[in-house]
Amino acid sequence: MTKVLVTGGAGFIGSNFVRYALRQHPDWRVTTLDKLTYCGRLENLHDVADDPRHRFVKADIRDAAVSAPLVRESHIVVHFAAETHVDRSIQSADEFIQTDVLGTFALLEAARGAKALRRFVQISTDEVYGSVPTGASKETDELLPRNPYSASKAAADRLAYSYWATYKVPVVITRASNNYGPYQFPEKVIPLFITNALEDQGLPLYGDGLNVRDWLHVEDHCRALDLVIEKGLDGQVYNIGGGNEVPNIDLTRRILALLGKPETLIRPVADRPGHDRRYALDTAKLQALGWTPRCEFDAGLAATVEWYKANPWWWEPIKRQDPAYRAYYKAHYAERGPA
Ligand code: NAD
Ligand code: TYD
Repeated sequence: MTKVLVTGGAGFIGSNFVRYALRQHPDWRVTTLDKLTYCGRLENLHDVADDPRHRFVKADIRDAAVSAPLVRESHIVVHFAAETHVDRSIQSADEFIQTDVLGTFALLEAARGAKALRRFVQISTDEVYGSVPTGASKETDELLPRNPYSASKAAADRLAYSYWATYKVPVVITRASNNYGPYQFPEKVIPLFITNALEDQGLPLYGDGLNVRDWLHVEDHCRALDLVIEKGLDGQVYNIGGGNEVPNIDLTRRILALLGKPETLIRPVADRPGHDRRYALDTAKLQALGWTPRCEFDAGLAATVEWYKANPWWWEPIKRQDPAYRAYYKAHYAERGPA
């Protein structure tokens, strides 16, 4: 029996990973540790809530009285918990430093000398490389984060590495590109645009719409993490990229076409300050371990659109009833105005 601790397992990628792990590994016992912030939701785990191999613990990762014993009893820690939205980090970076940096520090301290622990996966991001005008980032490239979110993630990424180099905590670091799929909170561009279009609301496209992201389906991400847990080498960094570079305007048009909605819904708005132009990853190192993305982008996007169409129970309460969500959007878009 393998004990696995998933921090941030009530969020988008974490909940997909918990579901994937329980399906793929009958011998795993999974504990989700999550504070349930504005985007962490038990609804994301609704179908595994009664699984006897899964347990949910509500706590802040910085609360060492709760998190440290959980780390110390685990064989594998997969650390997703973070504040994750760039726009929110631009409004206020405080929680990003608290959770992404100090929260990671608390877990790493607990991992020092943890006898059973054989893998600590630090979930980092391609955004730590900063904007990449041409070519693709390799794991050895310089880190040049350019917003408070990516800077907090870069700090955590290097702190995790230092706990391998100094204390031999069995850390591996993964840097994934933009994920998409079911259960993604409707503040990130794909679920925001799908759900806005479903409600015939405008799609706020930043700047000239030509910023490029490399889209990775969350299931492909989960498979990559599984492989890195099994075959990754301690102290190493692995890029995980979907190989689907798409300018935002093309993405927006594809979403509208899939929903049969008019392009008049596109609302050009003022650009995000310091908006990274492009991210792109060289994934040769992970491919050498035996991974390649399986989900073709057009099919993955169509399936994601279908999921949001079929599951309004999941997103409508957030958009219509959650006062914090409504207040955030009111403030956010009042600030922006048209491009
Ligand atoms: P998310 O925002 O959907 O979920 C984050 C989860 O962490 C939530 O459940 C939240 O409640 C929890 N959390 C936040 N602060 C916490 C704290 N102090 N203690 C305990 N739990 C806390 O995020 P996501 O998109 O699923 O991203 C997960 C991880 O993957 C993050 O580390 C992120 O940086 C990384 N990542 C995300 C993407 C992406 O495209 N979404 C790409 C690359 C890397
Ligand atoms: P986002 O989903 O916030 O991810 P990230 O900034 O971490 O890559 O944004 C993806 C891209 O979409 C990014 O270039 C910003 C753009 N974007 C918009 O044009 N409008 C929006 O309302 C949002 C949220 C993002």
